[in-house]
Amino acid sequence: MDLKETKISKIGVFTSGGDAPGMNAAIRAAVRASIYYQKEVFGIIHGYEGMIKDEIVKLGARSVGNILQRGGTILKSARSDGFRQKEGRQKAFETLKKHGIDALVGIGGDGTFTGLHHFYEEFGIPSVCIPGTIDNDISGTDYTIGFDTATNTAVEAIDKIRDTALSHNRLFFIEVMGRHSGYIGLNSGIAGGAVAIIIPEENLSFDELYSLLEQSGKTSKKSSLVVVAEGSKIGGANDLARMVAERSNYFDIKVTILGHLQRGGAPTYFDRVLASRMGVSAVEGLLNGEKDSMVGIYNNKIVFNPFASIMNGQHHEIDQELLRLAKILSI
Ligand code: F6P
Repeated sequence: MDLKETKISKIGVFTSGGDAPGMNAAIRAAVRASIYYQKEVFGIIHGYEGMIKDEIVKLGARSVGNILQRGGTILKSARSDGFRQKEGRQKAFETLKKHGIDALVGIGGDGTFTGLHHFYEEFGIPSVCIPGTIDNDISGTDYTIGFDTATNTAVEAIDKIRDTALSHNRLFFIEVMGRHSGYIGLNSGIAGGAVAIIIPEENLSFDELYSLLEQSGKTSKKSSLVVVAEGSKIGGANDLARMVAERSNYFDIKVTILGHLQRGGAPTYFDRVLASRMGVSAVEGLLNGEKDSMVGIYNNKIVFNPFASIMNGQHHEIDQELLRLAKILSI
């Protein structure tokens, strides 16, 4: 099928939810693919909020020049309460109608996808979502845009903390992002040589953590780094530091919370290529008749997942093998 001949004529592109490095590369790819296939393309500013408030700009191939390597999102992002209501979605639909936009590419996480799914069911606007979140917590794709960059940022920080931890024989609790997901924690913990990794997907008790720390003291470790995901069930880095200090004064303890710095910065080559592939594929998918789905990468091949198959309550499972490995390596 000649994709230039398809009925879709105007494509709207937006980012929504928490930003992630590589979103700009995905915007660029979706915009340029739309133009390549002779479709008009519009940027919707501030995600669903901009759809409701009519913040729409026409984009050309040059509007997305020099953004491939930049973090953040030139289209801005927001979490929209208005779009959760039918009324808000009706307004958003009217905005799109006014501009003649007849298909959407949304870049974000599961909240973004759910919004587009309702929108498709209510108004029949076809859409393809692109998974963009540092958390890598979306099922139906091996990787989400931003995860690789955020994990590299965390590893770089952990390496720096190790220098000072070693110089003073200290125990550090380093908190990384991931409210519900241990992907950044597990991977940065292994790459940074953590003595323990605390993630929401594992049921490690405080007592087990404490004996690991005691053990590392007994085996003459000069310093210990514990990587804690934000969503840890036994407490964040500050809580754990306090609990260890209450039990013993043996350790000289410090805490570093990496926070939002993991969301910024230039995307890695991996995220740029991933975002470029997903951006082009999302547009090609739409033109090929995808209506309510998410583009993903599975075994290094592009796949399309129908909305229902990714939003079935399934979490993107942590690799148990990596968890096992982390334990072996931390002795
Ligand atoms: O979903 C990405 C993420 O960065 C999470 O890891 C983190 O818990 C959350 O967003 C923080 O969200 P906000 O920037 O809205 O505080």
